[in-house]
Amino acid sequence: MAEFALPANSRVQQGKTHKAPAGAKNVRVFKIYRYDPDTGANPRLDTYEIDLDDCGPMVLDALIKIKNEIDSTLTFRRSCREGICGSCAMNIDGTNTLACLKPIEDVKEDVKIYPLPHMPVVKDLVPDLTVPYAQLASIKPYMQTQTPPPPDRERLQSPEERAKLDGLWECILCFCCQTSCPSYWWNGDRYLGPAILLQAARWIHDSRDENTGERLDALEDPFRLYRCHTIMNCTKTCPKGLNPAKAIGSIKEKMIERR
Ligand code: SF4
Ligand code: SF4
Ligand code: FES
Repeated sequence: MAEFALPANSRVQQGKTHKAPAGAKNVRVFKIYRYDPDTGANPRLDTYEIDLDDCGPMVLDALIKIKNEIDSTLTFRRSCREGICGSCAMNIDGTNTLACLKPIEDVKEDVKIYPLPHMPVVKDLVPDLTVPYAQLASIKPYMQTQTPPPPDRERLQSPEERAKLDGLWECILCFCCQTSCPSYWWNGDRYLGPAILLQAARWIHDSRDENTGERLDALEDPFRLYRCHTIMNCTKTCPKGLNPAKAIGSIKEKMIERR
């Protein structure tokens, strides 16, 4: 997996330390980014000593334990706890990934946890995803058709046509790739980024969709598509093993085919 140097932030100070209970024998240290913009206080790194003999195996288990038993003010998103909803994406040990799929034992030293990089922070580990969701809406992530549906059945596609969607439909919109992409860091207001372009590819390659030309027209722009420089951070970090860089390449191929 790709590792990212988080931007040096001299304003992140050492915060509180929450010691392990007396007698704990299997203690791991978690250092967690804490920030509440409403207070006006600078960000800080709080330290939590966790007894792993009394905690589940994943980083999300430790976060839930901290919130339930040690510090109820810690804020993070989670829902499914099994890599399906995409809510618990964060930067763990220098890599964007899903806390519910990240075993604590895979981190060799202190477990350092930050929000997804280069996004505004709502609170603690919760990034503001307003911009990427607006970008998702802009690519119209649903089937568009001109012709009426068959009267007696659904719109069908062959197994070969369906297979073209493999590697695309599995995306859970966690935005680990989006926030690992240097082009998106610097041009996130105009470049759509790998997660959104993978979604665009999912509809461009769907044989049932009848607006392929319009979809390609909307991406034919120096920024929206062509800011991808094939750096591949997106593909290295995807916790679902998908390949957004390849999906972006497939859109560029479609652009060339229609010229
Ligand atoms: S391959 Fe493209 S989308 Fe992926 S990280 Fe690199 S520039 Fe970003
Ligand atoms: S492509 Fe992978 S990393 Fe990117 S949003 Fe989808 S599941 Fe997450
Ligand atoms: S909690 Fe749903 S993906 Fe982690």
